[in-house]
Amino acid sequence: MFHNLPVAFLLSTAFALGVLAGCTENSGVPRAALEEAAPPVHESFSIEDIVEFKWETDEAFANAKGCMACHQVEAKKIGPAFRSVAEKYQGQGDAVSKLSRKVLEGGSGSWGEVSMPANKALGVREEEAAKLVHWVLSLK
Ligand code: HEC
Repeated sequence: MFHNLPVAFLLSTAFALGVLAGCTENSGVPRAALEEAAPPVHESFSIEDIVEFKWETDEAFANAKGCMACHQVEAKKIGPAFRSVAEKYQGQGDAVSKLSRKVLEGGSGSWGEVSMPANKALGVREEEAAKLVHWVLSLK
């Protein structure tokens, strides 16, 4: 007797009602049918998308803080490639504090004669420097 009614509409209505009532498990409609009518949102993107999103967010932050004017992830620009920095300091426990200090105070000699300016004079705060260095070191 239901064969004239759009099944998907019925199922998604049932699903929505079930969600509203907080009882999708017991609404009497098989769960598989519900999911076919209204796939769970989390199935539409993967863990890789989330990692990629985080990466882009951190790079956007580095960009906002002016780092990407002199750095790139993959290649040397004015300063070293961030991926090379991550490789160089891999496994060094004090790298975050050491490099945060360098980001804030500036300096030269680790990668050549060109020096990095004191980024704290350019509006980078201590906790921001640490966050940026964490990201840089995660790029290995
Ligand atoms: C005006 C250009 C410039 C800007 C802006 C800049 N850097 Fe650098 N950065 C450099 C240079 C040049 C070096 C290499 C310094 C050296 O050889 O010791 C460097 C080195 C580094 C290193 C490695 C330091 C070491 O001792 O190995 C890190 C980490 C780093 N930068 C992070 C950042 C972050 C994070 C920002 C943004 C807040 C930033 N940089 C902004 C030019 C810059």
